[in-house]
Amino acid sequence: MREHVDYLILGSGAAGLSIALELAERGRVAIVTKSQASESNTNYAQGGIAAVMDAADSFESHVQDTLLAGAGLCREDVVRNIVAEGPAQIHRLQDGGARFTRKNGSLHLGREGGHARSRIVHAADATGREVEDSLLGRVRAHDKIDVYDFHFALELITQHHLGEKVTRSRDDIACYGAYVLDEREDRVITFLSKATILATGGAGQVYLHTTNPDIATGDGMAMAYRAKARVSNMEFVQFHPTALYHPDANRFLISEAVRGAGAHLLNLDGHRFMPDYDARGELAPRDIVARAIDDQLKRLGHTHVLLSLAHLERDEVLEHFPTIAATCEQFGLDVASDSIPVVPAAHYMCGGVQTDVNGQTSIRGLFACGEVACTGLHGANRLASNSLLEALVVSVRAARAASHRENQVELNHQVPGWDSEGTSLPDEWVLVSHNRDELQRIMWDYVGIVRSTHRLERARRRTRVLYEETEDFFRKAKLTRSLCELRNMIAIAYLIIESASRRQESRGLHHMTDFPGSQDAFLHDTII
Ligand code: FAD
Ligand code: SIN
Repeated sequence: MREHVDYLILGSGAAGLSIALELAERGRVAIVTKSQASESNTNYAQGGIAAVMDAADSFESHVQDTLLAGAGLCREDVVRNIVAEGPAQIHRLQDGGARFTRKNGSLHLGREGGHARSRIVHAADATGREVEDSLLGRVRAHDKIDVYDFHFALELITQHHLGEKVTRSRDDIACYGAYVLDEREDRVITFLSKATILATGGAGQVYLHTTNPDIATGDGMAMAYRAKARVSNMEFVQFHPTALYHPDANRFLISEAVRGAGAHLLNLDGHRFMPDYDARGELAPRDIVARAIDDQLKRLGHTHVLLSLAHLERDEVLEHFPTIAATCEQFGLDVASDSIPVVPAAHYMCGGVQTDVNGQTSIRGLFACGEVACTGLHGANRLASNSLLEALVVSVRAARAASHRENQVELNHQVPGWDSEGTSLPDEWVLVSHNRDELQRIMWDYVGIVRSTHRLERARRRTRVLYEETEDFFRKAKLTRSLCELRNMIAIAYLIIESASRRQESRGLHHMTDFPGSQDAFLHDTII
């Protein structure tokens, strides 16, 4: 089966929905999304969107905080552009129906780690749901946008699928659309488009413990890598310091805004340890807080630390954090009076498909925005609440770039259908779940918050075995989403391990015990 559209968008989080609304003014749009449309990292975002909305704040202050967190690797021009366009994106969301928390007639601005000022626009502690619901409502109502849910993008279509071997990154690769698995009908659709937009989000599922939902398997980054797009800075994986530590809580996030409101981190001996590591205490950037917790756990042999809000005003805590309070209650915890057990968990991928500030990748006709992309905003470490900001600003810019004819490709009717000849349903599906579990554990144990050359080598050897087994299985087996996700996760693990091995220093989120300092020789992106 074939579909032709002007614009093909893969993913329906903030980035995908936002660009869809812009592009629908210029042509026919298809959004392909692998689960129900609202399921995305966006939907779980808590803290909010960083933007300069207060007269006492300044773009320069937001820029400097972003550059400082990024540890020398941000692209300053990109930072300046994105920060400057933040307020317009907040107004655009409000005009589209999003409602953010207000106090005394103005937006209430929260505080998060690494920000010199309170500048986080939020909808209580469920900002992402508000953003997702308002954008999705408008997308569903638009007559130029078709949403294909439970459709899994398998592969980007390039000259490679027309019989020309494309074995490495080069300047003339073009993207003609994507092969997409329609899970309900069990068929592969060939989507042809003039411009294809990756908005597939992050890859937290590569790790055993993550705040990300199941959809975050790095599919877009893996597809782009296979299509020979440039992928950069994959070593910079952000671990959020405070995910709920409970066997049944699936690492539910306890927002940084809770520390912004004044919560303290204590070890199990009751000691408030953050001031021992950084003068900013609990409001140090999250890489510092995550490493401090990791150090406490390793030093004391404890399984978790505690987050205490007991000294804060009870009513204010319950008013600002209703979602967190309700979830903690499900696990028998009173957020305002009990100490909440927390651990770090993989949270955000700073690296991704390399783009400029307009979402243009190294492949013609292919754009990327949101967490799948690496624009240069975050550098070696993302400042809290800068990712929804980036997704919104870059998606609008990418819509403009994608609608220019010189950045598009002609609809290519020579593209063949997906070839699934010779595949069957083998009876060894346990391989998929086993290899996924093993991969997540290897990444957590050897490629986590603190790394070393020795651990990275061990991870490389073990993941190589998983790669060979899975590729062999993939060649023989009928396509399923879980098998394709596993294959993508293994590609992401390779990209992280390879990038981390090349960076023989410690910078931002990448901390090597055998290379503890940063070096000017590594003041550049890691590009694969
Ligand atoms: P997503 O919102 O993740 O959307 C990706 C979409 O792509 C999904 O619809 C998914 O199903 C689809 N998809 C993926 N692969 C495929 C495929 N192969 N085929 C078809 N569809 C596919 N950032 C902030 O700035 N502020 C916050 O307060 C904040 N809080 C967060 C809290 C949590 C718990 C988490 C997990 C993240 C948080 N972040 C926050 C990060 C932020 O939410 C994400 O970076 C951002 O939402 C990413 O948006 P996106 O549109 O790029 O990707
Ligand atoms: C949080 O609410 O702590 C998440 C903020 C972010 O990831 O930017």
